[in-house]
Amino acid sequence: MDPSITTGRLLLRRWRSDDIEFFAAMCRDREVMRFIGGGNTRTREEVERSIDAFEREWDEKGFGLFAVELLKNGNFIGFTGLSEPTFLPEIMPAVEIGWRLAHKHWGQGYATEAAQAALQFGLQDLGLPTIVSVFQIENVASRRVIEKLGMRFDRRTVDPTCGREVEVFHTSTA
Ligand SMILES: CC(C)(COP(=O)(O)OP(=O)(O)OC[C@H]1O[C@@H](n2cnc3c(N)ncnc32)[C@H](O)[C@@H]1OP(=O)(O)O)[C@@H](O)C(=O)NCCC(=O)NCCS
Repeated sequence: MDPSITTGRLLLRRWRSDDIEFFAAMCRDREVMRFIGGGNTRTREEVERSIDAFEREWDEKGFGLFAVELLKNGNFIGFTGLSEPTFLPEIMPAVEIGWRLAHKHWGQGYATEAAQAALQFGLQDLGLPTIVSVFQIENVASRRVIEKLGMRFDRRTVDPTCGREVEVFHTSTA
C-alpha cells in the first residue's frame, strides 16, 4: 500500500532505511523529546525499532505515521500521522494524530500543513468517525497546532506511563 500524500510544501510517505540517521538525530535532541512521555531521548537502536514498528502498523492496520520530507529538496524533517494511543487506556479504542519535527524546521507551519493532510486521510480516505490528539499541557506548540486543526477539548487527565498531565482533543464529529 502506498499512502503517499503531497501538500503545498511537503511529501508524506512511508519510511525508508535512509530516514534512520535523520530520525535518530532528532530523537537525540532533548528539546524535541521534552514533552514525549518522560522526556527521554532515544538511542539509534530504539529509533530503528520504532521505524520497524511504524512500518508494521501500516502493513497490519492500513494506517500509521508518515515520514515527512520537504518537496523543495527531499530532506526528511520528521513525522506526522495516525497511531493507537495505547499509553492512555481510558480513551481506547481510539486513533490519535501526532507529530514530531526536527528543531530547525519548527515555526514554519509544517506541522499544521502535514497534520491537516493526515487528518483528511484518516477521516475521508479511511472513514474513521473521529481522531483524537493528546499532548502534555506545557506543550504550547502542540496545543496551537491542535487549535489550528479545529479540534475540540475532550478532557484533562494524567498519562499513567510518566505521571505527566495531558489534554485530549478530538475532531468535531465525536
Ligand atoms: C509540535 C511541533 C511539531 C510543531 O511544529 P511546527 O511546524 O513548529 O508547528 P506550526 O508552525 O504548524 O505551528 C506551531 C504554532 O505554535 C506556536 N508556538 C510554538 N511555540 C510556541 C510557544 N513557546 N509559545 C506560544 N506559541 C508557540 C507557533 O507560533 C505556531 O502558531 P501560529 O501559527 O499561530 O503562529 C514541533 O514543535 C515539535 O516537533 N515539537 C517536539 C515534538 C513534540 O512535542 N511533538 C508533539 C507531542 S504531543
